[in-house]
Amino acid sequence: MSINAEEISTLIKKQIENFDSDIEVTDVGTVIEIGDGIARAHGLDNAMAGELLEFSNGVMGLAQNLEESNVGIVILGPYEDIKEGDEVRRTGRIMQVPVGEELLGRVVNPLGQPIDGRGAIETSKSRPIEAQAPGVMDRKSVDEPLQTGIKAIDALVPIGRGQRELIIGDRQTGKTTVAVDTILNQADQDMICIYVAIGQKESTVRATVETFRKHGALDYTIVVTAGASDPAPLLYLSPYAGVAMGEEFMYNGRHVLVVYDDLSKQAVAYRELSLLLRRPPGREAFPGDVFYLHSRLLERAAKLSDARGGGSLTALPFVETQAGDISAYIPTNVISITDGQIFLQSDLFFSGVRPAINPGLSVSRVGGSAQIKAMKKVAGTLRLDLASFRELEAFSQFGSDLDKATQAKLNRGQRTVEVLKQGLHKPMGVEKQVAIIYALTRGFLDDIPVEDIQRFEEEMNIWIENNQNDIFTTIRETGNLPDEKEFSGAIESFKNTFLPSNQ
Ligand SMILES: Nc1ncnc2c1ncn2[C@@H]1O[C@H](COP(=O)(O)OP(=O)(O)OP(=O)(O)O)[C@@H](O)[C@H]1O
Ligand SMILES: [Mg+2]
Repeated sequence: MSINAEEISTLIKKQIENFDSDIEVTDVGTVIEIGDGIARAHGLDNAMAGELLEFSNGVMGLAQNLEESNVGIVILGPYEDIKEGDEVRRTGRIMQVPVGEELLGRVVNPLGQPIDGRGAIETSKSRPIEAQAPGVMDRKSVDEPLQTGIKAIDALVPIGRGQRELIIGDRQTGKTTVAVDTILNQADQDMICIYVAIGQKESTVRATVETFRKHGALDYTIVVTAGASDPAPLLYLSPYAGVAMGEEFMYNGRHVLVVYDDLSKQAVAYRELSLLLRRPPGREAFPGDVFYLHSRLLERAAKLSDARGGGSLTALPFVETQAGDISAYIPTNVISITDGQIFLQSDLFFSGVRPAINPGLSVSRVGGSAQIKAMKKVAGTLRLDLASFRELEAFSQFGSDLDKATQAKLNRGQRTVEVLKQGLHKPMGVEKQVAIIYALTRGFLDDIPVEDIQRFEEEMNIWIENNQNDIFTTIRETGNLPDEKEFSGAIESFKNTFLPSNQ
């Protein structure tokens, strides 16, 4: 057999060519710098923005800064044993989280891994954590209420399914309680809830999960948590992981409520990793794209058109203010993205008005279309009345002789404040809310002493339930106000049996 030198040389050339391309496909880089949850690697020329990378010890990273000679990587896990010179591999995947029904009732970290000690989660699907928000044609305007079960919210600043409503306030003003009570109220509302805890103490999250469990709310809830001691990248990613889990349900025609508690801590985590990545700092040392951080998250809340299944994803972002300053950088950003805000004020909270909603500064831009007809009828002007009462109250402290009309306004205002108070973890059905607000706005409470209002409400609801339950059934099932004569008659009959405490 003769050997053809020509042939051999072409074979070898081919081998060499193939060898080259093999190397290119693997795309391995080398760590050239490492520190505080951030690494830089050389040789990952083809890495995509947001791509998952794997270090030689199995820890994952996220490609963030793509520069000419190196890639800035955010490390998603313990970074202590990664060294300069270690290998980093491309995975070709964008970051994803497991999604689906299997996650309900579980507590997971932002990577979708269970941390509740109840075993692995067997899901069959996953979704990328960064996804395009639904487009204009896929959406429909918000037209269904999301019942929070909190009188002050459902009556004054109603939230609709698919809306984004900011909850803002100083620390310890009852923000988390609003979210928890809203989730507790979804038991019979065909709603999936996702509670994203960002940078909270593990013990606080634990207590929240226990509250859900005790009230049977965990069955329809997923808790995503990145604790205060977790690395900044996990805090930064957690809301996107939560919304990805929610989208799976929304695109299948379900209704989802996602709570981000809170986005100020996420912004701080993002600032930390941006500074470590040496991105230029701007106002309050936040990077220039901090607006986009929140807008791309909140745009993913939507009410889908009927053609797309009619599902919805409602977002309740939280922002913590310092000394009530809602004009700081992050609060103003998020206020401008959302469809309204609920402002919780600490002096109200400490004076015993809980939930401490400031009626003047709170608004829901979706408004009336997110209320059932009966509520719209009875609570129409309540928010403005209450806001003007607050102003009047401040003035009336100066003068003593007030005219009758002013006196009546003050009188009604005090009772309104009393009616809107609500205890911890006591969400209330919409029919009962309508009943007490009806009693208030039609003047039945005007001659009841202020200190008796709450007892009046409790006893009245029990009385109606026992004696004229059809009133409640009508409101619940038709959404309309029952026959007004019958309604007033019922309240009147109850009032005759009510004993004020001072008699
Ligand atoms: N409606 C209410 N009635 C009675 N107590 C309440 C009410 N709302 C909140 N609280 C109490 O006030 C405290 C603070 O509430 P919460 O944790 O919800 O506030 P927060 O604003 O989320 O606080 P943080 O800033 O620490 O996150 C809690 O102990 C809670 O039990
Ligand atoms: Mg809180």
